[in-house]
Amino acid sequence: MPIITNIEDLRVLHQKRTPKMFYDYADSGSWTESTYRANESDFQKIKLRQRVAVNMINRTTKTTMVGEEVAMPVALAPTGLTGMQHADGEILAAKAAEKFGVPFCLSTMSICSIEDVAERTTKPFWFQLYVMKDRGFIERLIERAKAAKCSALVLTLDLQILGQRHKDLKNGLSAPPKLTIANMINMATKPRWCLGMAMTPRRTFRNIVGHATGVGNMSSLSSWTAEQFDPGLNWGDVEWIKKLWGGKLIIKGILDEEDARLAANSGADALIVSNHGGRQLDGAISSIKALPGIVDAVGKDIEVWMDGGIRSGQDVLKAWALGARGTMIGRPFLYGLGAMGEAGVTKCLELIHNELDITMAFTGHRDIQNVTKDILYPGTF
Ligand code: FNR
Repeated sequence: MPIITNIEDLRVLHQKRTPKMFYDYADSGSWTESTYRANESDFQKIKLRQRVAVNMINRTTKTTMVGEEVAMPVALAPTGLTGMQHADGEILAAKAAEKFGVPFCLSTMSICSIEDVAERTTKPFWFQLYVMKDRGFIERLIERAKAAKCSALVLTLDLQILGQRHKDLKNGLSAPPKLTIANMINMATKPRWCLGMAMTPRRTFRNIVGHATGVGNMSSLSSWTAEQFDPGLNWGDVEWIKKLWGGKLIIKGILDEEDARLAANSGADALIVSNHGGRQLDGAISSIKALPGIVDAVGKDIEVWMDGGIRSGQDVLKAWALGARGTMIGRPFLYGLGAMGEAGVTKCLELIHNELDITMAFTGHRDIQNVTKDILYPGTF
């Protein structure tokens, strides 16, 4: 068993153990991937102030996100097709998050359904909603999330149309994925993955198949997903969804201060500064660069979180110092899942927590609540 010391180790193992088309789906961005890269590299430019001879005994990273107690300000981001990275991927990730004490958010485009995850977990999880043209389907999806006692709805606004991802096009990755000869040959070289899939009950886009109008089976899914994302989505729909849901609402995909004001005015409980992990508008600003302006604009009115490019607990602390009251991680937990299933997601969370805790101590703090911009080296953020 290789020794895992950081998220990069999990990435390497994920790449080794998971079919290329699914690994590439996780580890890619749109077009030239410039925003995908900037999300990570802009974190590296921010430097920390080291402090010494400060009491570092009894440290805590505990806080709340939309009122829910969390072991650290980190949630597992909604990611589509997670059950293809590892059999029952969504269920395993939700279980790891639950045990660690951080939120898990299930994507509309998941392989396991809301009900599958609810059945195998004990704590409430969050549900992420994409707005589809079929509003009847949206109503039914929201009812199912309520019935499963999901504790927050994460409404994604930055995917009215799909950002073009070159690797996915080349690999024939769609919903459902195309099984070309090349893909099948590559799958055969990943025996752990194949065995896991063979030994697990078959689950396939179960939020959608059998629930969306006209999608009774997998063959009708592909044309449905190709034309269902709604380019007409607007703030009136956000109001409609807020009423329909009636619970905690988190708006995901905000990168601009104007939009942040609209999100705050919508009455949502939190907004997530996000560029979808560099998978939508290539050339957009990195999330960590967009964060301070948005915190200044609306930080007093709404909880501001961020995601994109977090690869260590140090990044979580930098985001916190710049005003994010919560963060989400996407690829880091997918790397863990593809590498080692539930144990890999747990490992990812342990690594991030440990790095966060130690960095907090080195910068002179015992309680994350007291951490401010002061821990950052002037001129580097
Ligand atoms: C995503 N993301 C995403 N977001 C969303 O709202 N619904 C979804 O179904 C998906 N699907 C998805 C799949 C994969 C493979 C990735 C990598 C990402 C975006 C995700 O929630 C989050 O914004 C980013 O992953 C954050 O960036 P990092 O942490 O991956 O750098």
